[in-house]
Amino acid sequence: MSLLHLRRARTSLVLDARGPGLPRVVHWGGDVGDLDDDGLGQLAAATVPPVVPSSFDAPTVLSLLPEASAGWSGRPALAGHRDRADWSTAFRLDGLDVDDPSDDTSPVRVGVRASDPGAGLSLTVELTLDPTGLLMLRHRLRNDGDTPYELRELTPVLPVPAVATELLDLTGRWCRERSPQRHPWRMGTWVREGRHGRTGHDATLLLVAGTAGFGFGHGEVWAVHTAWSGDHVTFAERRPTGQATLGGGELLAPGEVVLGPGASYASPLLYAAWSDAGLDGLSDVLHTHLRARPRHPRSPRPVTLNVWEAVYFDHDLDRLRALADQAAEVGVERFVLDDGWFRGRRADTAGLGDWYVDEDVWPDGLHPLVTHVTKLGLEFGLWVEPEMVNPDSDLFRAHPDWVLAAPGRMPPPWRNQQVLDLAHPEAYAYLLDRLDALLTEHPGIGYLKWDHNRDLTEAGHRGRPGVHAQTEAVYRLLDELRRRHPAVEIESCASGGARVDLEILARTDRVWASDCNDALERLAIQRWTGLLLPPELVGSHIGPERSHTTHRVHDLGFRATTALFGHYGIEWDISSISPAQRAELAAWVAAHKRLRPLLHGGRVVRVDHPDPAVWAHGVVAHDGSRAVYAVSRLATSVAEVPGAVRLPGLDPARRYAVRPAEGVPAPATVQRVEPGWLASGATLTGAALARVGLQVPALHPEQALLLEVTALD
Ligand code: DGJ
Repeated sequence: MSLLHLRRARTSLVLDARGPGLPRVVHWGGDVGDLDDDGLGQLAAATVPPVVPSSFDAPTVLSLLPEASAGWSGRPALAGHRDRADWSTAFRLDGLDVDDPSDDTSPVRVGVRASDPGAGLSLTVELTLDPTGLLMLRHRLRNDGDTPYELRELTPVLPVPAVATELLDLTGRWCRERSPQRHPWRMGTWVREGRHGRTGHDATLLLVAGTAGFGFGHGEVWAVHTAWSGDHVTFAERRPTGQATLGGGELLAPGEVVLGPGASYASPLLYAAWSDAGLDGLSDVLHTHLRARPRHPRSPRPVTLNVWEAVYFDHDLDRLRALADQAAEVGVERFVLDDGWFRGRRADTAGLGDWYVDEDVWPDGLHPLVTHVTKLGLEFGLWVEPEMVNPDSDLFRAHPDWVLAAPGRMPPPWRNQQVLDLAHPEAYAYLLDRLDALLTEHPGIGYLKWDHNRDLTEAGHRGRPGVHAQTEAVYRLLDELRRRHPAVEIESCASGGARVDLEILARTDRVWASDCNDALERLAIQRWTGLLLPPELVGSHIGPERSHTTHRVHDLGFRATTALFGHYGIEWDISSISPAQRAELAAWVAAHKRLRPLLHGGRVVRVDHPDPAVWAHGVVAHDGSRAVYAVSRLATSVAEVPGAVRLPGLDPARRYAVRPAEGVPAPATVQRVEPGWLASGATLTGAALARVGLQVPALHPEQALLLEVTALD
């Protein structure tokens, strides 16, 4: 038992594991340097608070699982009971398993083993500090008793220092996912609960605590992400004792997890990141971690045409073949057939569950289209919504008992559909079989768009709460399909962006950020989705001129520049557009392909501009050799000229050429004379670009300027 110092990148986690109780978290945050045992002991001693009147007689410190028995009166990290006994614990430390390779490019792993024989429970805390400085934390609880133990909550928490005085998290709804909300971090508990049975349009994504005024490029910030695609909670708690914590875990319904003798429960992973370089610093840690995963998509992300907003349910082979031809002409690389191809699916009222190609609409099956698309050199993708069933389907008529429901009644319908109970072995086997058969019969399918268009409501499995088992079952289903069809990529879509979390992303290759293709809305949705996810994981399409979800009208340039910073695609009936528009679209696709290695590999930066109507963001190559930025005008401003736009992230000492992107049209402006540098480009150092910036053209509202930056030395 000892003092442990986990160090990776610029992050430290110091644990006092000298026992006899659970290890205390002495520090999580910036690197505290190379400390020997004495130094760590001094740090541990220096951070023990005083004892004040009307309190416990000994100082209360925060362990990896704060317990009432150690003086914790905040939100319980463990709640449960065994027939009303064993409702409180006093874990004793049994041992530590530390794997701390000297090589900084490997993660440090610590396993903390503890038990409370009186309560008949044992606990393992699994901690990993990634080479990027990202911390991952999971609790595993085992019932060592010989009677059942009902678990109500098991949530990892981490302490945050008093200097963090503001909170930022995200919320949203359909077509407006990941809207930020920010406020002072007051005493009490800020709790974000998701009870949708899926991650949710309103999911927190990241809960960030930071020093006053933190921004994209400045401030010290701590953040957590709860990686779970079912009901979950993420919270920040500040107590009058001076303690402040961030935490997150699964939300369990009454009786949902009852551990039989010898059974265990593992909490979702809590991802935790620290940075002293603001929100961009957090994204850096998270993006680098995600990009290092063995299954992170590494091939160039294919430019996609999704037919949903082009044809909806109106499937017609000739029309779709013509659309594929036009897609190929403009440079598309993946063609996705969306909802509407399977039996009885002429509208969103019927068919879900009957995963057989509709014989009326597709008399020769999907083969003629798949063959046509693949002959054009495009990959073929197919939409599915495996967990759902329409009451108007053969599947439901045959197996009404395969639906997640409370005894004796159906959940209120939502988009005319119900949810299949994947914990029902036969329902699971049916789905696995159908999906497997589709992929086996059509080897041309390289991609599945996996949708999930309703919340789980009163989701009962055999009369008991079923969300936990459902979430695990969908993970199993995805894992098994990927094992059988490793080359097939999968997108996580859920009425747009309602299933975006790192556990679903452990088994999928991109997310559909939102059903909203309006570029103005998308700018915000993508900016905040990008807090967690690098651009190559975020599907972003050029929609029709008039947005189908907001009715706003945007020029192609604004739509194309906004979508450019993601996994690029088109969702528009391009058979109805003029040759000039098609030529411009092809130019944008070509620009994306040229910039794609940079966009999908570089460091994401966002600009803190004082004018809320001016947004800028960019991606900078890790070696500082080049960058691409977009400056967008969201609205008009009171100021005639909003002030120079700084371009952060470049090498301060190097000189750069800054030019509007080549080969694509310039945005519409309101100026009489454009900034002088624009005609031949500017040559400035990285320091000047970051500290002074550039006057940009006076853009009309809902216009964007794409800038390319290249190092000259
Ligand atoms: C919701 C998705 O987000 C859309 O892109 C589309 O696939 C529809 N479902 C199809 O029903």
